[in-house]
Order: sequence, then structure tokens, then C-alpha cells
Amino acid sequence: MENFKELIELNMLTNDGVTKVDRWGHCFAVVRFDEDIYILDDRCSHQDYSLSLGEVDRDEMTLECFKHGSTFSLIDGQPTCLPARNPVKVYELKIENEVVYINFGD
Ligand code: FES
Repeated sequence: MENFKELIELNMLTNDGVTKVDRWGHCFAVVRFDEDIYILDDRCSHQDYSLSLGEVDRDEMTLECFKHGSTFSLIDGQPTCLPARNPVKVYELKIENEVVYINFGD
């Protein structure tokens, strides 16, 4: 069931990059390419490192983990190279009045 919550104002996000957002005791890696936003869990599925410390690739639509170099699809969170084998969670979102809302449980 949809449960959208206000996450962050659009202008707080680094454009062509990734921003770590800590809300409700949970960390998100929020990628912005102009008006396009993607939200992933900030924790790499390989080991416990922050994905928001990595690099985004606009052409490949991936976020690279800085620690061992796995890349994750911004679309579905699937790893596109080793060593990570499991996806990271990707969240549904919407933007209204320059604010990003995330579909994040109760
Ligand atoms: S911790 Fe991310 S690839 Fe190893």
C-alpha cells in the first residue's frame, strides 16, 4: 500500500550526483539528474558501506560502491557487476511542489 512521506526538498539534492539522506532512522542514497530522482537504500548489499559515498554514472544509470566497485542499477537496484550479488532496495517516489516524497512504510 502506498505510504508517501516527505523526504527532502529538491534543491537540497546534489545534481548529477548522490546525496545521503538520513530520515526515520534509515539512510537513503538519493540520486538526482536534473528533474529525475532515484532513491536506493544507502547500504551496499555486499558489505556495510554507504553507497552515497560512491559515484553515479548517468549514461549507465548506475551508482558505484566506493569500497569494492560494484555498480547498482538506479532503476531496479540490481548489481551489474561483482562482488555484490544481491540487489539494494529501490523506492517509489513522487515530486510535488519541489519536494521529494518517498513510498516508505509506516
Ligand atoms: S561494500 Fe559495496 S561492493 Fe563491497
